Amino acid sequence: MTKPVALVTGASRGLGREVARRLVAEGYTVLAGVRNPAKLEPLPGVEVLSLDVSEPASISAAAASIRTHHGRLDVLVNNAGIMLDRMGDALALEADLLQRTLETNSVGPLRLVQALAPLMPKGGRIVNVSSGGGQLSVPSTWAPAYCISKTTLNAITVQLAEALKPRGIVVNAVCPGWVRTDLGGPEAPRDLQQGADSILWLVLKAEPGLTGGFWRDGERIPW
Ligand SMILES: NC(=O)c1ccc[n+]([C@@H]2O[C@H](COP(=O)([O-])OP(=O)(O)OC[C@H]3O[C@@H](n4cnc5c(N)ncnc54)[C@H](OP(=O)(O)O)[C@@H]3O)[C@@H](O)[C@H]2O)c1
Repeated sequence: MTKPVALVTGASRGLGREVARRLVAEGYTVLAGVRNPAKLEPLPGVEVLSLDVSEPASISAAAASIRTHHGRLDVLVNNAGIMLDRMGDALALEADLLQRTLETNSVGPLRLVQALAPLMPKGGRIVNVSSGGGQLSVPSTWAPAYCISKTTLNAITVQLAEALKPRGIVVNAVCPGWVRTDLGGPEAPRDLQQGADSILWLVLKAEPGLTGGFWRDGERIPW
């Protein structure tokens, strides 16, 4: 039997790298989507795929490469993300900074699903790495552009889950918790393994039909 194929975006460091490493160990053919393949620290067992999620041409090229070399994609982990306004105030939020954040954190995942869903079989799984900062039920104000981008990603998740239901492809959003990475900072209480566990639950353990939800540590959380 051929191994299932998984693409993890933003796999150069942090949570994406850890998720890619763990999926190799789980027996997946893992494609590590990275912006700068030449600078990547070796990641044993993965195939490196050049991918900038904010660039439509890069997404098209990556999709063409996956089609040519693998012919299918079983799992897409939309992990790549940026936080340009670590602390902020919505009244001072610059539209340009918001736009750049949305391009990477929200529109990129949408474009990737549009490009790659045709390669996904019934049972395919799409995991959008979101954040508690995107919850509307628990308003966060610490990084408005980032939080707005994750709320938008959550809305995109619901739309895509409905659109892909007839094809048996599931789409969920997940919060990894606050994790010690370049983005999360050194004060975060969680290590990479705990954050990756929360993401990988949706790939490896969630019931096959579960779709259109927001999750942390295998538990549903409010939008
Ligand atoms: N850490 C936390 O506490 C936390 C909490 C909630 C949610 N999250 C989410 O978890 C995900 C991973 O975050 P992290 O903490 O692991 O952050 P990180 O260590 O800063 O890693 C971010 C990754 O995204 C990549 N990336 C950024 N822009 C990209 C683009 N345009 N195209 C392709 N790759 C791009 C980076 O690649 P380069 O090396 O090329 O820059 C890097 O690999 C993000 O979506 C983040 O919002 C994190």
